[in-house]
Amino acid sequence: MSVGEQSNSASVLGRPDGSAGPPVAGRRSVRRHVIAAAAVTALGGLLFGYDTGVVSGALLFLKNEFGGLSSLQQELVTSLLLIGAMIGAFGAGRVADRIGRRPTILITAVIFVVGVLLAALSPSFWTLIVARVVIGLAVGSASMTVPLYIGELAPPRMRGALVSLNQLAITGGILASYLVDYGLAASANWRLMFGLAVIPAALLFVGILTQAESPHWLIRQGREDEARRVLSRLRESDIDAEVAEVKEVAARRVSRRDLLARGVRPALWVGVLMAIFQQITGINTVIYYAPSLLAGAGLGNGASLLANVVNGVVNVGMTIVAIRLLDRTGRRPLLLAGTAGMVVGMVMTALAFFGGSQLHGATAYVAIAGLLIYTGSFAIGLGPVFWLMIAEIYPLRIRGQAMSVATIANWGANFVVTVSFLTMVDTITPKGSFFLFAVTSVVALVYFAKRVPETKQRSLQEIERDLGPATGDQRAPAAR
Ligand code: BGC
Repeated sequence: MSVGEQSNSASVLGRPDGSAGPPVAGRRSVRRHVIAAAAVTALGGLLFGYDTGVVSGALLFLKNEFGGLSSLQQELVTSLLLIGAMIGAFGAGRVADRIGRRPTILITAVIFVVGVLLAALSPSFWTLIVARVVIGLAVGSASMTVPLYIGELAPPRMRGALVSLNQLAITGGILASYLVDYGLAASANWRLMFGLAVIPAALLFVGILTQAESPHWLIRQGREDEARRVLSRLRESDIDAEVAEVKEVAARRVSRRDLLARGVRPALWVGVLMAIFQQITGINTVIYYAPSLLAGAGLGNGASLLANVVNGVVNVGMTIVAIRLLDRTGRRPLLLAGTAGMVVGMVMTALAFFGGSQLHGATAYVAIAGLLIYTGSFAIGLGPVFWLMIAEIYPLRIRGQAMSVATIANWGANFVVTVSFLTMVDTITPKGSFFLFAVTSVVALVYFAKRVPETKQRSLQEIERDLGPATGDQRAPAAR
């Protein structure tokens, strides 16, 4: 038993004898415990956002370091993190299923600290490259273990909001990185820009020590008493029903081959295609490149950076709106309305560039408004809903691995779009590129309308039963 678990078992029940029994937690105490666990874990999301966002500003100063960086070297600093993230997401799924969610997050926090310090202190370009890959490993791991862990801790009625705290943390991390870049620009201190991430990484390490292991994972390991103790402070009622449900689901024989089994395949497709659509509709071309694009289109550096910060604020603001709505209106209405809004935003941005690749007066406002509508729409729909869905739609026994597959697809698509975007703009112009994203958003919208199920307020086990082999149903459950 780990140190964290010992300290947890003492505080879990509030029963001096530590025995299992009926739930003793009241509604407020449940909220407090669940929100605390989700908030600590969401530090992983903050690091994800910060570490992916920080490089855009840091590059401005980095390119004069180490004897001067070529464009290719700059691209490597940016995009090798994404390759690291693919590997991290791949490894984390297996590790999280084998040793548990909590130790996996602990290891992730250690990797963050090591990578961030290495980046901040790197004596050479190649050390920096290694550091970015190491940080990527942690980002990839965090991007799947955080929603996985929170999804299993949260009571169904709060799950949408809590898992989406992760997306809020990602957007908060991106915004924080923009502000840090902006604040440190005068001193050109790129080392500090990278290094400040050590604070949330250390907080994640310490914070997760105070949290319990996922009850669902514990049940799967046959550690039912521990699971009950954890659940008793995270649920107001229905512990027996939940334990029984998780046990029943876990008892089904599912091997690794079942990841591709007929009954699981629809869910696997939904996750992987949502992952790919989340990226090929262009979000990170805006998140990583908006200032360069706007500056290249004739806006001043100051105006471009300001537009970027406003975009970051809209991203956070609309994510908060999504969190308030997800468990009320459901996932589908937000996903569909948000994706439709992305189409509108991209068409507007493309139209602004209709007269050429330079923006003047009114067209600059149209382009910025288009980008803000696009980001806001992503933030209310596809941004949070993708990460939430992949924490909800997979059978418990393969959940870790299946989330990994979807997460790897997400990082892989992110990598492809990120490394090709600047070339694409050169080849088919900004207008053509934004129209292309409008088209991919339309395709995404049609797919989501046809295939993505509603998962609001249904237990993970119910969703699993809908998608699982027992029903013999090969399609995703009917859209509700
Ligand atoms: C995406 C990231 C993106 C971020 C923007 C996340 O949901 O996975 O790739 O940078 O949203 O807010």
